[in-house]
Parts: sequence; C-alpha cells; structure tokens
Amino acid sequence: MPLDIQLRAAQPMDLAADVLVIGVLQLTGKSPTLPPSLKPIDDALGGALSKLAAREEFTGKREQSLSVGTLGRLPADKVVLVGLGDRRSIGAGEVRTFAAKAARAGNAEKAKSLALSLPAGLEGHLRAVGEGLELGAYRFTKYFTGDRKPKTELSTVVVGAGAKLKPNAKALVVLGQKIGAAVNLSRDLSNEPSNEIYPETLAAAAQAVAKDHGLKIEVFDFEEIRRRGMKLIDAVGRGSTHEPRFVHMSWTPRGAKRKLVFVGKGITFDSGGLSIKPAAGMGEMKHDMSGAANVIALMAAVAAVKPKVEVHAIAACAENMPDGNAYRPGDIWGSLDGKTVEIVNTDAEGRLVLADALAFARTLTPDAIIDNATLTGACVVALGNTCSGWYSNDAGLAREFDRAVDESGEQMWRMPLLEDLREQVKSEVADVKQAGDRWGGSITAAHFLREFVADAKWIHCDIAGPASIERPTAWMQAKGATGHGLLTFLAMIERASK
Ligand code: BES
Ligand code: MN
Ligand code: ZN
Repeated sequence: MPLDIQLRAAQPMDLAADVLVIGVLQLTGKSPTLPPSLKPIDDALGGALSKLAAREEFTGKREQSLSVGTLGRLPADKVVLVGLGDRRSIGAGEVRTFAAKAARAGNAEKAKSLALSLPAGLEGHLRAVGEGLELGAYRFTKYFTGDRKPKTELSTVVVGAGAKLKPNAKALVVLGQKIGAAVNLSRDLSNEPSNEIYPETLAAAAQAVAKDHGLKIEVFDFEEIRRRGMKLIDAVGRGSTHEPRFVHMSWTPRGAKRKLVFVGKGITFDSGGLSIKPAAGMGEMKHDMSGAANVIALMAAVAAVKPKVEVHAIAACAENMPDGNAYRPGDIWGSLDGKTVEIVNTDAEGRLVLADALAFARTLTPDAIIDNATLTGACVVALGNTCSGWYSNDAGLAREFDRAVDESGEQMWRMPLLEDLREQVKSEVADVKQAGDRWGGSITAAHFLREFVADAKWIHCDIAGPASIERPTAWMQAKGATGHGLLTFLAMIERASK
C-alpha cells in the first residue's frame, strides 16, 4: 500500500503526528542557535530543545540528529531534528535520503502517522520526498505470523513545506511515490525465497507489472527458448525442474528519441550447479535474480515517468541446479550469437544467460544496451556490498552513465576493461572460454560478455551484494538507497528523453 501523503505549507509547530521529523539546514555563525521556525516548538518545550541542541552540539550538519519526547506539549508526540548540511550542497539525492531517514524513524518509533517538515527553498525536490518516504518505509515482513507480525505500520504522512506550494506539488510527490514503489517492487522480488520465485513465477510477476501499467510483454517458455537457439540459457537451466523463461517487456512511445535496452540476470537460485557452492551463505543466492528484478521493476517506473524514449527490459531467467541432466565443466555449448563456449565452471552461469540475452538485445538495434547482474563475488570483494561496479565499451555512453550515477546518488564505480586480461577468456577448444582465473574476476566476466555485444554501445553493471537489500547495511539505512542501479537507469532514461 502506498503511503497516504498530504502536502501543506505549514510551520513545524503546526504539524500533528506520532512523530515529527524536522529538516534543519546547517546553522552558521559563531554560536549557532536553532532556526527561528523552531522557536515556537522550543518555547512550548520550555527551552528544552535549544538546551539539548547546545549540549549535543547539534548544528544541522548532515548525518546529525536529535530527538526529544514532547510530553503532550505539542501536537506531535516526538520531535526528531535531522541535519541537512549546507544548503548549497543539497540536491535531489540528499532530499531523498532525508525523507527516507524520516520514514525509518517513523517505523522505528512504531508510528502510524509521520509529519515531515521541509525547510523553505527545498520545495523543488518534492519528487525526491515522495521517493524517499516510500524507500525508507520499506520492510519485508510478509512471512512473519502472530507475534512476529509488526503491529503497526506507517500509513499517513503530512509534509509541511516552509513556503507556498506550486500547483504541481502534489503530482510531484505522487510521481516520486510511484518511483519509490518500483524500487520496492524490485526489493520484494529479490527478497522472495526461491521456493516462491522461480523462472515461471518471476515471469508471471513481470506479466503482472505489464498488465498494471499497460506495457507490452512477451514471455518465451523453455520450448521457445530452445527453438530460438538460446543454447546457453538451455545449458544453465536444464538441471532444474523449474524450466527457464525469457522475458521481454517494452515501452514504445510515438516519436521516441532513442532506444535503450536493459538486460537483467534472472538466476532465481544459484546453487553453483555441479561446481556446487559451499553450504555457508548459499541461501543468499536466492537474490541472484536481482538484475532481472531491477529491469522488470524499472518498467513500472518508466510507465510512471512516460519518457519519450523507447525502453526495453529483458530478463533471462533460470535456476542453476546440479542434476543428471545438468550442464558440466568441459562441455562446449553453442549460443544464440553463434559463438561456441567452453564451460569451465558451472557456477559462472550468470554470464551465460546474459550472453544469449545480449545477443537478443542486439537484434532490437538499440542505441545502447545496459545490463545488470549479481555477476561476481570478485566485484563484491573489490567494492564492498554497497557499491556496484560498471564497465563500458564506449566513451560517450560512459559519460552519460556517469552523469546519471551522479544524479541518482547511487554508489556505482567505473571499472576498467583491461585489455591484458582479455586473453583469459580465450579457449583452446571453442570460440570463447566461459571464465578466467581468480584474479580480476569481475573484469574477465565483463570481457566474456563483451564477446556477445559486438559493436553495440554497452554498459555492464556488476551489482552489489544482493543480501544487502534484505538487511540493509548502515550505509544503506542512512541513504535509503538500493545500491542496485534502478534509479541510475531511470535517470539515464530521463536524460535521454530531454
Ligand atoms: N551469483 C554469483 C556471484 C555472486 C556471489 C554475487 C556472491 C554476489 C555475491 C555468480 O554466479 C558466481 O557464482 N560467480 C562466480 C564466478 C566464478 C565461478 C568464475 C564467483 O564469483 O565466484
Ligand atoms: Mn554462480
Ligand atoms: Zn550467479
């Protein structure tokens, strides 16, 4: 259920709720005092707020916060001040983070209603407020029963703006909520266990998104996947009783300026196959379809934003299991592209399903292909689980992507497609070898994919540790971000639409 968000021009003192979160710009001057808009609150509390602020040295720096109970003296039961930092440093990303923090504070206090006070001058970022509130309110609690089930849920929010609001203000908040809901859909799909989400049900979820948002969709079943010659998806998926699916969704507006194709790895469970993974941590591999979840959910955001850009989402879905019928190390398989691949490790399955998906993406003659996948442990070792790595084969596209990363506020770091490592994917017996050695594992995976993009302009994102979606790290708690790129992809689409 989306939050019920009301918008008013109001001073903090006039906002009633279980919890009132007030954004405070960094205070300047020798002995900083609280901003004048907080004077009525401080007075109602007998000066307790300013006294506490002085003792805790609260000056509105970003990451600072202060909370006080109001003992019935205010329309709000609890007041939380959140530092926003220097006004000039505040963009959409910072406002989104602030709103997400407020929603989390609401949930932590078991509040049903939340009030958010936005300092004057930030009314231009109301979309980010809508995004942040939905992102911050997210929890994955559907499998709790009885006492474990949360008894309260944040349901209403009143946003008090410090200045007069434009007529489109509410529409901006609602748009932001739809985008936040799209990211939360991606999180939900990723958090679902593999006994619930397998290729067939993941494809069904994509069909539901398409139906809800009036998007085109095609789903290929295993027979169609084989008929079309997607031999690498066949290889990866054949060891499971859950058959693979190939999903293609599209948004095709009239007069589109560009055509972008997003590709996601949809391994609904990665046991490693015959090259089986160690038991410890294997359960995390239920998240190995996070790339597919991202591109499917991205389409919901695209439907809300309605860009003048043609957008396609492709999800290659399979379950990687050991079985009598499973593919093996030493096998040589063909591919949709036509190249043959020498298999060396059945746990390097993601790049195989992506190779066929990339070859399919090329047939759509796009201006750019952007893939994303929980592809290598090596990338998580390099960048940690709050940051994704990305690669590109085109300087112009890379500049565009870099700006989109900046705009979204997500942590994505460019990695080099080092030419020296390319020989690791050369094979003695087939056109390409599936994997290289231990060193530079994320880079050699990117080299493998590159073999299947030909001369298309391409970005590849090796996305951050999937587990961090379910149990957000401290950094993600603070940012209200996903670390998985959906917002960056959306920023890229919106830039192309301008
Ligand atoms: N899905 C994993 C990569 C992964 C592991 C992502 C842990 C995030 C957290 C992928 O399919 C995989 O198993 N990759 C192997 C490749 C290797 C066998 C060449 C890896 O990274 O170890
Ligand atoms: Mn694997
Ligand atoms: Zn995998």
